[in-house]
Amino acid sequence: MQELLKAEKLNKYFHGPDTVQVLYDISLSICESEFVAIMGKSGCGKSTLLYLLSTLDTEYEGTIDINGTRVTGLNENAMARFRNEYIGFVFQFHYLLPEFTAIENVMLPALKLGNFDHEAVEKNALEKLRRMDMHQHAYKLSGKLSGGQQQRVAIARALINDPTIIMADEPTGNLDSVNTDVVFNIFSQLVQEGNTIITVTHDHDFARKGNRIIEMADGRIKT
Ligand SMILES: Nc1ncnc2c1ncn2[C@@H]1O[C@H](COP(=O)(O)OP(=O)(O)OP(=O)(O)O)[C@@H](O)[C@H]1O
Ligand SMILES: [Mg+2]
Repeated sequence: MQELLKAEKLNKYFHGPDTVQVLYDISLSICESEFVAIMGKSGCGKSTLLYLLSTLDTEYEGTIDINGTRVTGLNENAMARFRNEYIGFVFQFHYLLPEFTAIENVMLPALKLGNFDHEAVEKNALEKLRRMDMHQHAYKLSGKLSGGQQQRVAIARALINDPTIIMADEPTGNLDSVNTDVVFNIFSQLVQEGNTIITVTHDHDFARKGNRIIEMADGRIKT
C-alpha cells in the first residue's frame, strides 16, 4: 500500500509559565485507504497529535509529510490551501457557527477554497448532508440542532471538499449507538472509496472496526 502520511520524531511543548512536553518522539506512517483509530487515556496527547498531523498546529519539532508534500515549514497561505484541499477535520467540539444554518456551515470550507460557484457548492453541501441523513435540517440554524445532529453537520462540513484524509477527534463522542453506527458506516464507505481516516476515539467497538489501532500513553505511542 502507498504511504500517505509520515510523521517523524514529533515533539510538542506547551509554553506557559512552565514549559511542558506533551508529545515525545512520535513517529508513524499511515497508508492510503487505511482506517486508523488513535486511543488512550484522557490527557495522553491524542488531540494534540491530531492537531499536528492536520497542520492546524505548526509549533512542533520533527517533520510531517502528506501525499509527498513536506507540510512542516510551509508558509501560512500554502498550508491553508493544502489543508483545505486534502484534509477534512472533525473537531472534538464541533465548532459550528450557531447563527448560520446547517448548510451554510457545510458550504463555508468550499466557498473558501473557491473551486466551484455558489450554486454548485450548495448542491454538493446538500448531498453531503443527505449522506449524514441531515438534509431535512439543512436550512435550520445549527445552534437549534441537537448535539448529535450538530456533530453530523460537522462531519458533512469535513467532507465538503472531498478530502483525501479525514481526521476526526471523537466524532461519535456525543452520539447514541444508532448514530455511531451511521458515522461508522459512512467512514467505512469513504475508506472503500479510497479515502484515509484517522480518528481519535474512546469507543473500543468503533476502533476495532478500523484497520489499525494506535495506542498512546503519556505522550508516546505504545509499542
Ligand atoms: N494549550 C495548552 N496549554 C498547555 N497544556 C495543554 C494545552 N492543550 C493541551 N495541554 C495538555 O496537553 C496534554 C494532552 O492534551 P490533549 O488534549 O492532547 O489530550 P487528549 O488525549 O486529547 O485527552 P482527551 O481524551 O481528554 O480529549 C494534557 O496534559 C493537557 O493538559
Ligand atoms: Mg482530546
